[in-house]
Amino acid sequence: MSDARPIGVFDSGIGGLTVVKALRELLPGENIFYLGDTARVPYGGKSASTVERYSVEMTDMLVAEDVKTVVIACNSASAVALPKLEQTLAVPVIGVIKPGAQAALAATRNRHVGVIGTRATIKSGAYERELRALNPDVRISVRACPLLVPLIEEGWLDDELTNRVIARYLEPLTHDGIDTLVLGCTHYPLLADAIAPFLAGKVQLVDSARNCAKAVEQLLDQQSLRASRKGEGILQVALTDAPDTFLGVARRALQLEIGELQLREVLHPAKL
Ligand code: DGL
Repeated sequence: MSDARPIGVFDSGIGGLTVVKALRELLPGENIFYLGDTARVPYGGKSASTVERYSVEMTDMLVAEDVKTVVIACNSASAVALPKLEQTLAVPVIGVIKPGAQAALAATRNRHVGVIGTRATIKSGAYERELRALNPDVRISVRACPLLVPLIEEGWLDDELTNRVIARYLEPLTHDGIDTLVLGCTHYPLLADAIAPFLAGKVQLVDSARNCAKAVEQLLDQQSLRASRKGEGILQVALTDAPDTFLGVARRALQLEIGELQLREVLHPAKL
């Protein structure tokens, strides 16, 4: 039995393509429909209720594309909207927080984990909740890093200014004694090479994109939703507004074949 319907992936914008990259590597035979909310990016500085509302609208649009599962390739959206989407969606849904938390606990030796992300993600406390639910004894140090997303979108991935910002954000976490750091934002894998030198080989990086892809693989196997293994799956990318220069940055850094972009208008649920 095989299921050729696409995996639906959404993000506030382009950053979730790091999850698509990980999915392409792990599940090359799967079709993927990616929806980026470029009309309303960023989500990371917005309130939980707004991010939840946007996330419901994005998933409704994915369901209209007949996806077999929804992947929330955005930490900010996963942090605040996953419980609601789990209750309301007819297809299984996976976020990035739980897979990241599981991988962090598997990696840590001193049970002290650091998490960096957007303000929305850190303020939600979602990583702390997930990590403590899995291991009540874990120590957690968190830090919102709102300047990193604009620096990444500017393409300053290997840049003195970016390095200074990283150093300033990470110093309190490494000083606290973390031995594992979760990149709790789907943009951040693009900065993994820039972040590594500040950890001096003493702190392991956990990339929520790659761990999310592993969780998707497990889910498809458990629910018998895998596509047939023959041939390479098709990747379709749709955005809610024309892309900015970040698409070029992500394309180059991730070496992703994206093909022709589609545009989609956000469908607002009928007002009662
Ligand atoms: N994709 C978002 C995240 O992973 C970062 C960009 C944004 O703020 O919308 O949190």
